[in-house]
Amino acid sequence: MKILITRKIHDFALKELEKKHSVEIHTGKIPMPKKLLMSKIGDKDGLLCYPYDIIDSEVINAGENLKAISTYSVGYDHIDVKTALKRGITVGYTPEVLTRATADLTMALMLSLFRRIPEGDKLIRNNKWKTIFGPYEFLGTDLYQKTLGIFGMGRIGKAVVKRAAGFEMNIIYHNRTRLSKEEEKKLKVTYVSLDELFRTSDVVSIHSPHTSQTDKVVNLKLLKKMKNTSFLINTARGKIIDETDLVAALKRKIIAGAALDVFQKEPTDSKNPLTRLDNVILMPHSGSATVETRKQMAEIAVKNLIYALSDKKPIYQVKG
Ligand code: DGY
Repeated sequence: MKILITRKIHDFALKELEKKHSVEIHTGKIPMPKKLLMSKIGDKDGLLCYPYDIIDSEVINAGENLKAISTYSVGYDHIDVKTALKRGITVGYTPEVLTRATADLTMALMLSLFRRIPEGDKLIRNNKWKTIFGPYEFLGTDLYQKTLGIFGMGRIGKAVVKRAAGFEMNIIYHNRTRLSKEEEKKLKVTYVSLDELFRTSDVVSIHSPHTSQTDKVVNLKLLKKMKNTSFLINTARGKIIDETDLVAALKRKIIAGAALDVFQKEPTDSKNPLTRLDNVILMPHSGSATVETRKQMAEIAVKNLIYALSDKKPIYQVKG
């Protein structure tokens, strides 16, 4: 069968795919321009794409023979799943393997905010470290006994809970559906309303998918509920936060700071007002960016596609 890959994938995974199918790899501009994508997908049976590729109904319908879409990501908000499923197209994705890496990055960002790590690095590089160790020099804040508010208690949210428990944090959460009493007890987490989550947390960490319900759900109204000593972390999707409102909240010191791995528009650059603020840490969408995790994502993305095209169930399939 014929496959289109919108960007080169790991060699070992590509070889697996080429053993069974004829593969065309896009090597030009990233993301692949929509017109080009639509012209190339016409005769393809399978598509392997990335989270920045917009696979909307026009693209899907241009793929007359399309039987399977496999995304190299846990998020699938870039795919019009409804249209795909209506056409009987299988959609595969890569959850689980990136849970640990994303939770690790969340903790790294949390520690960076609480202990001012990027600021310390900059201070020394700029020759501004003038007085040695003192009672009030360069103080951060303990994670110990601080309240962590998790917005979105799926796989990644739970992996963050495990890690934060090691720092003896109090953990509250808000999720579309509440966990069972047993699971809450096991994880030692307390369910609260969205309002209370933002009002009482010392740090709120976002781990929900981006959907029509979570689009810009974190806006100025919600940010104003936070304590002015609190932090916000987002390693999920940029569109969950109203970025203009966040810039206002950071400028006006409504919150103490934020750490963002994801943005409204990616890649972002120095034109983004966030880059001119000192109380924000920025990362280039790297939650799953470890050697080990990206290899596993490649393996699963390719297996999902191979299985779907051979009438086997993909390892991870979007249910709609
Ligand atoms: C995903 O898999 O959805 C991530 O955001 C990509 O790192």
